[in-house]
Amino acid sequence: MHRRVVLAQRPVGVPTLDSFRLEDGPVPTAGDGEVLLQTLYLSLDPYMRGRMSDGPSYAEPVAVGGVMVGGTVSRVLESKAAGFQVGDVVLGNTGWQTHAVMKPGATPMNSLVKLDPKLAPASWSLGVLGMPGLTAYVGLLDLGQPKAGETVVVASATGPVGATVGQIAKLKGCRVVGIAGGAAKCDFAVKELGFDACIDHHREDLAAALGEACPKGIDVYFENVGGKVLQAVVPLFNTGARMPVCGVIAWYNLTRLPEGPDLTPVLMRNILTKRLKVQGFIVSDHYDRLGAFHRDMAGWVHAGQVKYREDLTLGLENAPAAFLGLLKGSNFGKVVVQVAE
Ligand SMILES: NC(=O)c1ccc[n+]([C@@H]2O[C@H](COP(=O)([O-])OP(=O)(O)OC[C@H]3O[C@@H](n4cnc5c(N)ncnc54)[C@H](OP(=O)(O)O)[C@@H]3O)[C@@H](O)[C@H]2O)c1
Repeated sequence: MHRRVVLAQRPVGVPTLDSFRLEDGPVPTAGDGEVLLQTLYLSLDPYMRGRMSDGPSYAEPVAVGGVMVGGTVSRVLESKAAGFQVGDVVLGNTGWQTHAVMKPGATPMNSLVKLDPKLAPASWSLGVLGMPGLTAYVGLLDLGQPKAGETVVVASATGPVGATVGQIAKLKGCRVVGIAGGAAKCDFAVKELGFDACIDHHREDLAAALGEACPKGIDVYFENVGGKVLQAVVPLFNTGARMPVCGVIAWYNLTRLPEGPDLTPVLMRNILTKRLKVQGFIVSDHYDRLGAFHRDMAGWVHAGQVKYREDLTLGLENAPAAFLGLLKGSNFGKVVVQVAE
């Protein structure tokens, strides 16, 4: 059976289970030049919330009734394409479905990369050794440019991007302060990932606690969330600080501007007077860094210098609930759905 999760309707605000629909059909077969893939692992990522809406963005939305997009690790079940054998394990973008037929390399979305499962668990190519890991690497090293002794702050500190950012910053000799939702995540960031401190963003006194954890101010703030975390960070910026803007997940479900005072003047005054470097980036613009990333990250992971935690969900039918959990922080680590053994 070919099972897929399609976008049932565009959400207004927070998505719900009704935003998705499960559909079943016969397993397709491969034509000339094509492969039939069986999905083993599906990556769930915050960017998918953006694809569910049809507002202006850097990427096309998923069509209503279309299969939800997503990175996958698959096994080749049938091959009529040169260079691919039955049994090969490949990294691709086949989306929320159990099977897919495609012509490898026909479009950028159809690119397939063969994996060697002996080198690392295949699912890690969806996390620390894949897109989120590259995001952390490029955003921190190329845009954040951390120097030994500086203070680096990152939120979503136990997610695949934030955890990797913090650990690379430690390798570069920085003081690293994480921000995460809850005591268990903060404990993990300090005790397992080696952060110097981690602040629970649910605390009433978030701004004061962050100030205490950053006695020399903040030199790099790797922006993953926006919202009240950004508000707490801004007054602590040092002159010449850098803010790579990677994501603003606290605002992904906004339907209108938040209530309260307009804080744009505070932000702009800080950018001006402290000569801040603020730069947004999209990881797909930085694939030229894949070679250096794979070399460095594989070395760090194998040496145990960068640790990685997955939050595994079993069964494609549970992908919608796992995705809704990711948007509100119920996940603890990189969210991966195991679709088949
Ligand atoms: N620019 C790019 O190319 C690119 C590429 C990949 C990812 N990203 C962005 O990077 C960020 C992290 O992604 P990820 O894949 O590593 O996801 P992740 O950290 O596993 O999951 C998102 C986390 O965001 C936190 N969160 C949700 N709502 C929040 C709120 N209102 N305030 C504070 N924290 C909140 C939750 O962690 P806590 O429970 O710890 O708060 C949640 O677990 C996202 O913003 C994502 O969109 C950008």
